[in-house]
Amino acid sequence: MPNPLCYVVGGGRTRYGSLTQSLSDLLCEAVGDALADAKLGPEDIGAVYVGNFLAGLYENQLHLNSLLWSLFPGLRAPVIRVEAACASGGVAVYEAVIALSRYSRTLAVGVEKMTDYSVQRSTQCLAAAGDAVFDQREGVIFPASYALVAQQHMLRYGTTRDDLAAVSIKNHSNANANPKAHFFGKRVTLEQITASPMVASPLRLLDCSPISDGGAAVVLSREPRDGRSIPMYGSAVANDTLSLCERRDLTSFQSVRSAAAEAYRQSGLSPKDIDIAQVHDCFTIAELVEIEDLGLCEPGHAAGLTREGRTSRQGDIPVNTSGGLKADGHPIGATGVGQLSELVTQLRGEAEARQVNCHCGAAVNIGGVGGTAVIHILGSR
Ligand code: COA
Repeated sequence: MPNPLCYVVGGGRTRYGSLTQSLSDLLCEAVGDALADAKLGPEDIGAVYVGNFLAGLYENQLHLNSLLWSLFPGLRAPVIRVEAACASGGVAVYEAVIALSRYSRTLAVGVEKMTDYSVQRSTQCLAAAGDAVFDQREGVIFPASYALVAQQHMLRYGTTRDDLAAVSIKNHSNANANPKAHFFGKRVTLEQITASPMVASPLRLLDCSPISDGGAAVVLSREPRDGRSIPMYGSAVANDTLSLCERRDLTSFQSVRSAAAEAYRQSGLSPKDIDIAQVHDCFTIAELVEIEDLGLCEPGHAAGLTREGRTSRQGDIPVNTSGGLKADGHPIGATGVGQLSELVTQLRGEAEARQVNCHCGAAVNIGGVGGTAVIHILGSR
């Protein structure tokens, strides 16, 4: 195998959910946790990348560069804000990896504070991740875009409503082993999913990720610090058209395929080496599509993989062990960083009740409907 790109030497995150903490509180907790985990201080970091999507739209709070810097008196590093819709966190990590060519240690943090606002306001702000003319003006909000993906996947591959529900049941079950998850303690059955309100056909309320607050951070280093340092072998970003109306095929995200190909090339690994994955299940259908685009199975076979229990914690390729976006939560800017925090926890063997047997993990974080995709590969065969 090639040399690692870098090591993840610390990770931390807040609880996700409807929280009383402010944006600044969430930043402090996530960064503080990650630094404590790495046994480092703010003065040890060469550059910070902060992923956030909505603070400017919700509450006119931009310039998180300076906001974050103000919170950590020992920090001398430059802070750079990164925005790529729901992929803001993943792109912050990608930038932090690249910055290791200049600095010995960097930090990536993602944060979002969403629950102070109505669902209508959140829906309007989230729509800014779509095309202003083709999508927003036509009312094509995100549940509707993913509903189109689900309809096409059902038509082409025979994917069923129960297949979507199986993703939700699995991810809610995983979240019940994750005390930091938005829906920790919430039991979800097939009957409840089937009876939940239709949001955009065929997607029901219990197919959707929730609106969450939260923060997550990771510390990256050129060199390992101790036995808990996890090597990173792949870090890749790819893009696709902003609007679905310019795509030829809605059953697959080309950006995920391209970023995955690049991350596999960098790492010298292939899909068969991956034994744990965190994928971007903002809606249940997205988990199935991304499992396929990551190459974990043939196109159209992810529903079968799920039905057979192979993506459960007891299966051979556990997916979304944290509960995923569906049940761990989706604090937009934090999500991509939180996925790495979960992989690091699993690969260190520190995931307690939700621990699975794993050596090599992949994270898929997407913005919009795959207009941006970020893939990271951690651990080794
Ligand atoms: N999954 C599970 N339960 C959910 C939920 C979700 N996604 N969203 C809300 N709930 C629960 C709430 O906890 C609440 O339960 P309770 O009655 O036991 O307290 C109940 O459902 C009603 O909650 P409410 O906040 O009134 O729901 P809502 O109708 O306002 O919002 C959605 C539901 C699905 C519309 C909202 O969660 C949503 O917009 N999700 C998608 C977010 C999104 O698009 N993200 C970007 C992805 S690209």
